[in-house]
Amino acid sequence: MSRLLYIQSSPRKLRSKSNAAADAFVETYLESHPGDEVVTVNLFEAPLPAFDLPAVQAKYAILHGRQPEAKDKAVWGGIERIIKEFKSADKYVISVPMWNFGIPYRLKQYLDIIIQPGLTFSFSPDKGYQGLVTGKPVFVVYARGGDYSGPGAEGADFQKRYLEFALKFIGFDQIQSVVVEPTLMGGPEAAQEKLDGAIKEAQEIAAGF
Ligand SMILES: Cc1cc2nc3c(=O)[nH]c(=O)nc-3n(C[C@H](O)[C@H](O)[C@H](O)COP(=O)(O)O)c2cc1C
Repeated sequence: MSRLLYIQSSPRKLRSKSNAAADAFVETYLESHPGDEVVTVNLFEAPLPAFDLPAVQAKYAILHGRQPEAKDKAVWGGIERIIKEFKSADKYVISVPMWNFGIPYRLKQYLDIIIQPGLTFSFSPDKGYQGLVTGKPVFVVYARGGDYSGPGAEGADFQKRYLEFALKFIGFDQIQSVVVEPTLMGGPEAAQEKLDGAIKEAQEIAAGF
């Protein structure tokens, strides 16, 4: 039995196009993988610890081999809990809206929490950076109000490019995705057509995921 972690990063619940395609993926996945466990986390509802001064102090105390103080240990415990939950999954689904050409701030906060040396990546002078989350597939749904598929527009996409870079950095090398775009141009019928196409693609990938 595998555990699939479904991370939602849109706050728009049932109105979210990225959630709609990812929900369809999960539904089809469960039909073809009965018995697998799906854990859904909405990053706008989950209590994420702040990655602020106490967290950075704790990180550097541990990183530089200093004896962490009790307050560092308490803060770092909250960070490690999220990382443990993340790493406990065998497979991942992430739904991601484009916000200001990038990803929503709650997903960035989540990445700032989970991307940690010694836990999700390592560094050594001879081997350089190495991801530690290996051998696990991830499926990502990206939704955008505009259309970034054409030449010239691709350069403004800091959503897919950034997330894929971050995922590869921590070790993912089986990354599949669909893009729902544009969701805010050409009227609701055109957007629905794009969503239907993305759902179909997502369902095809889900069956063999
Ligand atoms: C705060 C905010 C910023 C946005 N920035 C962009 C943007 O830079 N480019 C774009 O094409 N659409 C942008 N949009 C539109 C969303 O990408 C679009 O509504 C998408 O469908 C959101 O995904 P969701 O439906 O899963 O929530 C923005 C929407 C919000 C709420």
